[in-house]
Formats: sequence, structure tokens, C-alpha cells
Amino acid sequence: MMTPSDPETGAASPDAEPTDVGVAIPAAGIGSRMGRRKKAFLELGGEPLLRRTLEPFLAHDRVVSIAIALPAEESGRPPGWLVGLDPRIRWVAGGVTRLHSVRAAITALDVRAEVILVHDGARPLVSREIIDRCLRVADRGEGAVAGWPSVDTLKEVDSAGQILATPRREALWRAQTPQAFPRQLLLDAYRKALDDGVTATDDSALFARVGGRVRMVEGAPWNLKVTHPEDLEVAELLFRLRNGPTGGEPR
Ligand code: CTP
Ligand code: MG
Repeated sequence: MMTPSDPETGAASPDAEPTDVGVAIPAAGIGSRMGRRKKAFLELGGEPLLRRTLEPFLAHDRVVSIAIALPAEESGRPPGWLVGLDPRIRWVAGGVTRLHSVRAAITALDVRAEVILVHDGARPLVSREIIDRCLRVADRGEGAVAGWPSVDTLKEVDSAGQILATPRREALWRAQTPQAFPRQLLLDAYRKALDDGVTATDDSALFARVGGRVRMVEGAPWNLKVTHPEDLEVAELLFRLRNGPTGGEPR
């Protein structure tokens, strides 16, 4: 496993001035696998899930700007708890796909941000340590994706369930967010992807399409994306384990 002191992850030079960071949060999905409930506004530890997601970013002293892509109805009239939460936060209307929502958010960020973190609104358990592992890579001009090695053997199957391929498990990681990128190259990547009509891929693949190098860094098995109703129950248990039985105290 990689560690922050591992030369593989390449810490930035200790006397370099840390650059400003912007955070793009896609939270405009419709939650079809959650029974068509907008996940950002479900509760986790007695607070809106999106608010939990924001906590470690708001607590980070390098973060100067946060842009959240919200469903169109909410972006016109955001909930009260969000409006007064922090002056670094702005919100925009999301788009039909995650890619469109991320694009709307990254273009709304303060231009001072030289590094951009993209993080799913529906991943509320992300930690400071994971964020910093991503930033260390982006600080030296590469892209970073948080992830975790797959414990299961993965199979490629066709629509009839016929197994087509069994890729070597040791080479397979499950991609999570955050993902971190130098700002200008990420903006170029998005512009080119939309010009070329590319949609079915993730942020790091778009970054690689314009020649960016992308590295996998250690996320965590508990950095889950709340996707199905059961995930919300698991997230609640993990949240309480971390934050104590009352669960309501911010970290
Ligand atoms: N997202 C977004 N805009 C979209 C689609 C997704 O901002 N058009 C966001 C979601 O709100 C979520 C993240 O991207 O925070 C990851 O997407 P996913 O977990 O797939 O959420 P949904 O698309 O809402 O869920 P589903 O696919 O089950 O409909
Ligand atoms: Mg989706």
C-alpha cells in the first residue's frame, strides 16, 4: 500500500507555497437507484448528506472555492442550510449527465484555484487524509484518483450473463472520488470531451485523453458512494462508529 511518505506518491517540496484548491461537487443526480430520491438531501447523522460531504472540504485551509452542481429546481432556490453555510460555496444548475454537472461546477470555481478536486456529493465519509493524498499528486502536475484494490475477482459479462473475460484481479482497483487535477488541463479536458461528444467516462479518463498522467492513490473501503437504500444504512453505521453514538458532532 502507498503511504504519504512513500516516494511513489511524491510529496510536494516542503518549502513550496501551497496553491489554492477549488472543489467541484456534482450533486445534481436524480437518485434512480435510491428510488428516485435526491441523495444530497437525505439525512446522515441527523444532517443533510451533502452537508456531511462538505465538512472535510470546508475544514481544509487550502480550499478557497467550492462549486456544487444541484438539481435545477434546487439551484434556483437552494435550501436555507446551504445558503448561509460558508462564503466559499456557490451553486450552479447541474446537467443531464454527471459529466455535464461536473463541467458546470468546475467552470464556476474561483479562478485562483490552481488545483481542482472533483468529489461526488453522494460520498459523505471522505476524510482529510484521502483529500491530502490526492492533492499531493495534483500539486506536482498529475491527476489523482482515490481508489481501493478490488477484493473480488471481476468478470466481464455480456447481456446474457455469458462471461467474456476475467481480468487479473491484482491489477484492478475500484475508482472512488475525490479525484484531483491541475485546473487548466482539466478545463481543457472537459472542453475537448464535449467538443468530441465523449460522455460515457469519468473525470480521470477525460484528463488522460488530453495527455495528462493519472495516478491511483489510496482511498478507503469505507469511502462509499451512497447509491442503493442499503448504502444509506451502512453509511449511517460507519458515521456513528467514527463520530460516536450521538453521531451529530462535526469532525
Ligand atoms: N450527478 C450529477 N449530475 C448528474 C448525475 C449525477 O451531479 N446528471 C452526481 C450525483 O448527484 C452524485 C454523483 O454524481 O453525487 C454520482 O452519481 P450517482 O451516484 O450515479 O448518483 P445519481 O445519478 O443521482 O444516482 P442514479 O445513477 O442511481 O440515478
Ligand atoms: Mg448516476
